[in-house]
This record gives sequence, C-alpha cells and structure tokens, in this order.
Amino acid sequence: MENKRVAIIGAGISGLLACKYTLEKGFIPIVFEASNEIGGVWTQTIESTRLQSPKRTFEFTDFPWPSSVRGRYPHNTDVLKYIEAYSQHFELLPYIQLNTKVIGIDYVGVSDEEMDSWDFWSGNGKPFGSKGKWHILVQHAEDFTTQDYEVEFLILCVGRYSGLPNIPEFPIGEGPDVFYGTVIHSMEYSAMDNESARELIKGKSIAVIGSQKSAIDIAAECAAANGLGNPCTLVQRTIAWALPSGCFWWGINLGFLYGSRFSELLVHKPGQNIIYSALATLLSPLRWGFSKFVESYLRWNLPLKNYNMVPKQSFLQDMSSCKAFLLPENFYGKVEEGSIILKQTQCFSFYKQGLIIDGEVDEPIKADLVIFATGYKGQEKLKNMFASKSFQNYIMGSPKSIVPLYRHIIHPRIPQLAIIGYSGSITNLHTSEMRCQWLAHFLDHTFKLPSIKEMEKEIEMWEIYMKKYAGKEYKRACIAASHIWYNDQLCKDIGCNNRRKKSFYDEWFQPYVQSDYVGLSPN
Ligand SMILES: Cc1cc2nc3c(=O)[nH]c(=O)nc-3n(C[C@H](O)[C@H](O)[C@H](O)COP(=O)(O)OP(=O)(O)OC[C@H]3O[C@@H](n4cnc5c(N)ncnc54)[C@H](O)[C@@H]3O)c2cc1C
Ligand SMILES: NC(=O)c1ccc[n+]([C@@H]2O[C@H](COP(=O)([O-])OP(=O)(O)OC[C@H]3O[C@@H](n4cnc5c(N)ncnc54)[C@H](OP(=O)(O)O)[C@@H]3O)[C@@H](O)[C@H]2O)c1
Repeated sequence: MENKRVAIIGAGISGLLACKYTLEKGFIPIVFEASNEIGGVWTQTIESTRLQSPKRTFEFTDFPWPSSVRGRYPHNTDVLKYIEAYSQHFELLPYIQLNTKVIGIDYVGVSDEEMDSWDFWSGNGKPFGSKGKWHILVQHAEDFTTQDYEVEFLILCVGRYSGLPNIPEFPIGEGPDVFYGTVIHSMEYSAMDNESARELIKGKSIAVIGSQKSAIDIAAECAAANGLGNPCTLVQRTIAWALPSGCFWWGINLGFLYGSRFSELLVHKPGQNIIYSALATLLSPLRWGFSKFVESYLRWNLPLKNYNMVPKQSFLQDMSSCKAFLLPENFYGKVEEGSIILKQTQCFSFYKQGLIIDGEVDEPIKADLVIFATGYKGQEKLKNMFASKSFQNYIMGSPKSIVPLYRHIIHPRIPQLAIIGYSGSITNLHTSEMRCQWLAHFLDHTFKLPSIKEMEKEIEMWEIYMKKYAGKEYKRACIAASHIWYNDQLCKDIGCNNRRKKSFYDEWFQPYVQSDYVGLSPN
C-alpha cells in the first residue's frame, strides 16, 4: 500500500467500521475519539434503551451476536459490549486515541481557485488525487493541550445524533427563562448515570417535549418512576407511526413489506430505467395497499384513535424518512392507566410553573422538570468542524437540502474526505458497514469517482426521490425504502454482483440482510 495517511474522527459504530475496513486495505488509520470510550451513542443512553432494529439486522457482517444475548431487541449494555467485542476481535483499539477531540480541520495546499477549476473530485476522481492535505487540530482532554496532525485522507464519523442539541426558540418572556423549574435536553438526561437520572425524575411532575423515540422512551421511564402520583405529560408536535414489538402482523412479516427487492419494485427509485419506472407506476396501488395494511394493523392493535394519536401522514412516508420507531413495552398501558398524558400542539410556551399549550392559559400544565427530547443539529455540528467557509457552505447546502453527498458518502466539492453516518436507513449499522466497505475499495483504487457534475446530478436525483416519499420530513436523509437499490449502486461501483441471493424466490421476496454483503470484492 502506498504510504498515505488516513485519519478517522469518531469511534462510534461508523468510525470503528471505517477503521476495520481501511486496515484491511493496508492503511494504518489513526482514530480520534473525543470521549474516554468507544461506542458513540451507545455509551450514553437512558437506562431503558434497547436496540430498536431487530438484532439480526443490526449485526456486523462478519461478527455475529454472541449466543448469550437473547431476545430480539438487546439492552443498551449488550449493544455496547457487542461493539467492544467487535473492536477487540479485529484489534482496532491500538489505532484509537481516546480523550482526543478534533477541534478543527483545514484543507491546505490547494487554492480555492484551483479547486473551483476541477472537473473531477480532488482533480482526478481518485482518493489521493491532489497535492492537498488535511490539517487536523486535536485537543487532549487530560491537559487541554493541542496537537496538529496532517493526513492525505479524512473520514468523518462524528454522528448525527449527539453533541449539538436542537433547542426550540421562544419569543422573549415565553421561554425557559421565565420558568421556575428545571429544563434539560434529552442529551443531558442520557449522559447521566442511571442512579443520578433516577434521582432527577423521582417524585417530579415532568413534561417531555417531542414525539420521536427519545421523547417516547423518556416519558415511559418517567411514568414508570412516578406512576399516577405524578403523571408525565408528553407534548408532541407531529404524531409518527410507532410500532409495537414483534414481526409477524396478521401473519405478514414487515421485512417482506419493506425489506425485500420485490417491495422496492413498488417505489420509484433514483436513476431507475423506464421498466422500473413503469412497474412502480403500475404497482402503485399495491404500494398504497402495503402502507394502509400497516396503518390498519396499528390502528387495530393500539388505541390510537382514543387518544387522537393517528398520524396524518402515511406509514410509507414515515418509513421513507426513518421516522417510524418501536414503542417501549406497554406504552399505551401507561397512557390508559393515566401515568402518561398525551398532548398534541403546534405551539407551546413557558410560564412560571410549567407550560401553556396553544395559548390556553386557563389550563396550564404544571411541571417541575421539562425535558426537551427535540433532537440534534447534526448538519450544523458537521459544518462547525471545517475551517473553510466554502466547505462550511457546501455542508449546509441550500436551506431546503440535506448534507449533499454522493452515494451518501462523498461531497463532490470537498476533496480527500468522506462522511459516514449522515443518512440513515432501517438499520444504521448495516448502512455504515456498506459505506465503509465501499470507501475502503475506493481508497484501494478499485474504482474512481465520476465527474463533479455527474455526482451532483446523482445527489439531486436522490434528493428528488427523498422529497417525493418523505414529504416535509426529507431533511432527515433516509434511504430506508430503497436500501437494496442503494446497495446495488455500491456493489456495482465495487464491481461485485448486486444480486446476492441463491434462489429466485429469495432474491425477490426475502429481506436483504447483513450476511448478504459479507466481504464485498470485485468479481
Ligand atoms: C439512543 C440511540 C439509540 C439508537 N438506536 C438505534 C437502533 O436501534 N437502530 C439503528 O439502526 N440506529 C439506532 N440509532 C442511531 C445511531 O445513531 C446509529 O445506530 C449508530 O450507533 C451511530 O453510530 P455513529 O458512529 O455513526 O455515530 P455516533 O455513535 O454518534 O458516534 C460518533 C462518535 O464520534 C465522536 N466525536 C464526535 N465529534 C468528535 C470530535 N470533534 N472529535 C473526536 N470525536 C468526536 C463521538 O464522541 C462519538 O463517539 C440510535 C441512536 C441513539 C442516539
Ligand atoms: N434504540 C432506541 O431505543 C433509541 C432511543 C432514542 C433515540 N433513538 C434514535 O436516535 C435518533 C434521535 O432520536 P430523537 O428522538 O432524540 O430525535 P429526533 O428523532 O430528531 O426527534 C426530535 C423530536 O423533537 C421534535 N421537535 C423538534 N423541534 C421541536 C419544537 N420546536 N417543538 C416541538 N417539538 C420539536 C420533533 O418533532 P417533529 O417531528 O414535529 O419535527 C421530533 O419529534 C433517532 O434515529 C432515533 O431512532 C433510538
């Protein structure tokens, strides 16, 4: 292997995978990790967090879950142990510098004018195309000293769901400043050790803001701690489709409805040919039917109507924006007994003793503690890493776009750099592993990138596709409803067969899973 230096920022699942696959290609990567342990989001979860993707789908291709971990949705402690065992098995730890936060990255050696004149990424579409290098400034947590590194290739695996919380803004006099109680973000709650978290919520009237997984799980935890004595109020803006655990619904597997190649025939896919396009149009009633089937099952299985919790958007829309999630055990049991109170509103504000919903001052919600489970500003966090203003602007894209990445990995105008983990799917471990395999082959010169214009066209096609199916939620880049199609593109780039099942039936009707993509290499 030529003597090129590769750095990886972040030692969550994506960073560890990037480390493993670059090592396999003969590179000696250096991994910078800000915290004192590996595992990323799995090092700081709330006590009740479990995997919400079935274990079988959230599995490294070449490192199965240990048989000692039973059940479909392992507990967060098991997930972390599994990630640690993976790192030990593939001897990744020597390449990781813990307690080392990257505080800035700068591309040097090539002027902006020169970069603007390129028709190809990095000048020639190859991983180490230009004479430019990345300068990385790191800060060591023990003594706050800083250090400079220089590499030819940089892989950002800093995570979308951590670091920079999204906190709602309020007009003066209506925000947390007027509230006498405590306000925290779910990020702070997740960072607490279990005992401190239990202590914080015990005996308190709590309002949780948000309608996605963190909000629902935290509300369930608060309800379990305080019961009917201090019911937890869950304040939601958009109701999403939430699934009870279990896979067979009226005898039908969700993987068949949304995880097989056949299921992807029903949706229009970016870059599809005329035959696929005609099929998707012809089969659109079936696409609608699948979505309605799931919605009917959920309405039948859960008391959604009783609590005004029927989402306005279709299940397909939530699937296509990675917004459908798994309900915690007995969530509606808690709603029915009254330890969780559900409120839906587009507008809330604070007063001295709690929250006012929709301006109804006569019926305020009294609270001692308000928890914002309002997500993260992942795109902004990524932007802030770059010293260059042009690169910052490239990351932010237009106000209505997602981080614009070719193959969801490469920004066409930021050379010698890849980003893993910024668009999601049904199972994010699998998505990151596919991308890291692709990236390692690219670094190994298995293929080169098309022209910048072609990459931008491809990105635009994916954006149109995501807008079409995810609606207003498309900003959460998600390939869930076309993930096999997406993997097909990665396989074709690498030069391996994208039809990976053994029989016709399996190829079209069985869900594609990790084990279908072990050790991808050119035919
Ligand atoms: C609570 C929770 C549960 C989840 N459950 C599921 C699930 O069941 N199924 C699923 O598919 N997805 C799930 N996800 C999505 C999850 O984000 C992915 O599954 C995956 O773990 C993300 O890994 P990552 O490595 O991309 O990012 P992260 O896990 O966020 O790791 C990023 C790492 O980068 C480090 N870092 C960041 N900035 C710097 C810096 N400047 N310098 C050095 N280091 C830095 C961080 O410290 C962190 O260790 C969950 C997310 C959360 C928050
Ligand atoms: N495995 C697990 O058990 C587990 C646990 C926690 C999290 N996760 C994963 O971690 C990721 C992050 O989840 P998350 O729930 O923390 O964040 P999230 O998915 O980004 O959800 C943020 C929520 O905050 C709401 N929100 C944002 N701004 C708001 C405002 N101004 N007013 C009211 N509501 C506002 C959003 O509502 P709108 O929808 O209206 O925008 C949304 O419901 C997801 O991938 C999730 O699946 C997994």
